[in-house]
Amino acid sequence: LLAQFSQLAGVQPAKQIAFSFDIDGQRPLYPVCFLTNGGGVTEQAKADQLASWLGVRVTAEQVILSHTPIRLLAAGYGSAPVLAERRGCVADVAEAYGFRAAVTSAELAAAYPPSMLPFSSRAMPLGSAGVPITAVFVFHDPADWYRDLQIIVDAMTSGGVIGSRRSDMPHVPIFFSNPDMVYADDFPTPRLGQGAFAAAVQAVYEKVAGRPMESVNTFSKPSSLAFRLAASSLAAEAKEGGWKLRTSPEPSMGKRIRDSDLPFRAIYHVGDNIHSDIAGARAAGPPWVSVLVTETGVWRGPGNSPEVPAYLVVSDVEAAVAAALQRRQ
Ligand code: G3P
Ligand code: MG
Repeated sequence: LLAQFSQLAGVQPAKQIAFSFDIDGQRPLYPVCFLTNGGGVTEQAKADQLASWLGVRVTAEQVILSHTPIRLLAAGYGSAPVLAERRGCVADVAEAYGFRAAVTSAELAAAYPPSMLPFSSRAMPLGSAGVPITAVFVFHDPADWYRDLQIIVDAMTSGGVIGSRRSDMPHVPIFFSNPDMVYADDFPTPRLGQGAFAAAVQAVYEKVAGRPMESVNTFSKPSSLAFRLAASSLAAEAKEGGWKLRTSPEPSMGKRIRDSDLPFRAIYHVGDNIHSDIAGARAAGPPWVSVLVTETGVWRGPGNSPEVPAYLVVSDVEAAVAAALQRRQ
């Protein structure tokens, strides 16, 4: 497919097509842009993994992870300590985004006596006293829900000074990277995702603090920001492939390119989750076209979702690409 795009580079058709792929629940075959609610690693690490799976070049700019939009917030929290929930190498991700004082839940757990987490095994030696937390960023699905739930509730009910009982607490905002209640992996049925953890955090916080949790933010699919970042990635990919774009400024992560300036008459987003992939592509509107796979991920049919109907319904990614290319004829 990339070869076809490079052939098109010379041809100056009025508008061509592009693809944005969900990852989990997919068998990616034709990499152009990967828009996933997965994460926990840097964009470069995910690009390298995709390149090794697919045997084609994949750049970090082609990968939009659940926490990629959080990069846009780092400037506001440059040196402020933030709690980065972690599985994988999220501390490296936070640092790569510019959070110079991110502390992970595992590091915080090690900074307090064992009585802080009576039911968690202490994997790290006791460290120095904790640091006041100014914000909580859940970059990726936590490995230890009990530990991270306890630490988040501690941080958000103590104005960020874990262990204190002051009443005049400054608000500590929380940002979740993705709202997926479930997602598909190799297990026969879907697994609980970060949206389930967020629901647990909100329910426990309301019981413990006696008030609802304020302004919970999520940034990945189905948010329009995630799809705008993907459109910028695709425009940059097209420009690198020699297409002449009418856009200015230069397409780059986060700068909004007007949909009318995109060089695509259709961007096929292929996904398995009706609440993230299909809802997001529908809300993003033209040139996005929602394509639902029915045999490899969360949604298993039969047919289209009556609740969030996709524009195209196919069995898997290969059928999705074939259907899209067929429509191009
Ligand atoms: O929500 C968990 C995540 O792994 C789902 O990824 O690629 O299906 O959006 P994806
Ligand atoms: Mg998926």
